Amino acid sequence: MRNRHSVLFSSVIAATLLASTQAYGESEHFGKTADGQDVEVYTLKNESGAIVKLITLGATLTEMHVPDKDGKSADVVLGFDDVAGYQSEDNQYFGVTVGRVANRIAKGKFSLNGKDYTLAVNNEPNHLHGGVKRSLDKVIWKAKEVKTKLGVGVRFTYTSPDGEEGYPGKLNVSVTYILSNNRNSVRISYTAKTDQPTPVNLTNHSYFNLAGAGSKTVLGHTLTIAADKYTPTDDTLIPTGKIESVEGTDLDFREPTRIGKRIKSLDDTAAIGYDHNYVLTRQDVKAGELAVAARLRDPKSGRILVVRTTEPGIQFYSGNFLKDQKGKGGKAYAHRSALCLETQHYPDSINHPNFPSVVLKPGETYKHVCVYSFTAK
Ligand code: GAL
Repeated sequence: MRNRHSVLFSSVIAATLLASTQAYGESEHFGKTADGQDVEVYTLKNESGAIVKLITLGATLTEMHVPDKDGKSADVVLGFDDVAGYQSEDNQYFGVTVGRVANRIAKGKFSLNGKDYTLAVNNEPNHLHGGVKRSLDKVIWKAKEVKTKLGVGVRFTYTSPDGEEGYPGKLNVSVTYILSNNRNSVRISYTAKTDQPTPVNLTNHSYFNLAGAGSKTVLGHTLTIAADKYTPTDDTLIPTGKIESVEGTDLDFREPTRIGKRIKSLDDTAAIGYDHNYVLTRQDVKAGELAVAARLRDPKSGRILVVRTTEPGIQFYSGNFLKDQKGKGGKAYAHRSALCLETQHYPDSINHPNFPSVVLKPGETYKHVCVYSFTAK
């Protein structure tokens, strides 16, 4: 039999080792919405130098501090210092959870089970990012701290009533962010359940600048996207329904390419830059498992972001509509000074039977995982 003291000793060592590598979380009051609702902020930290902040308004990622190649930390996502900023016209979905259906639905119309639905047209002539007043980015979510083997985090939940923003069915949604204990990686896991068939396509809308939020441009960043194909769009950014090869186009990011290299040729397109859905290759990766979707590197800071997802698509948006609005610390966010890599199903899938379906039925569970991992070298 082992000596009682040695058992005690080894468990003390184990507990100390665990404590020294474990991330922790805490919450504080962030502010009040215009109609007087409280917004809480959660802070997560780990032993590899990352700090993440999340708020209950829109289940939003507001800060992501990660070290550069010399160990110097910077916040690499756009956002605001207060609730008023997040509720202002200047907020172009910074860090929010987007839904019920991220991206565009043509003319805000779709049919499901023989019934026609009309949604708000909030991006002429289309519906964008789930609606106007009660889309998932604009509501207050319940929050609870979670601890897993991977790290600590926050689980946000929200119940969207039947008919909210014109969508059918009562939808129970959860979004869980976990900051890894020993890697600078944030895992975002989504689930949803419904009591009527309804379209669901959730995503996170973080804007990244790996040199630090508020740096002038992302055109010097190098991007790789694991996609041979994309979904071409019309001049209102609605997919034509075709799936085409990126070969020989300015959209080809199969090899690491500087974002600014060819962007000029897209100046006069409807997207005014990159704003395209890529069909992820997911070679040899089973449905439901994570595949690498994109890799972004800022040559100066050496920071690298790798995006992995279970989803079939990724929207690469090069911050074309940023308009010099003032964000955190009063810094201005200029045209193309940050970019989004939004893992999701293809835009307007509900009107394209040849695209993977976004319809969730009663008894099914919507599941989506996206991991943003940061390193530097
Ligand atoms: C992106 C979308 C852009 C733009 C942006 C918000 O997800 O692809 O076209 O609407 O959100 O300003």
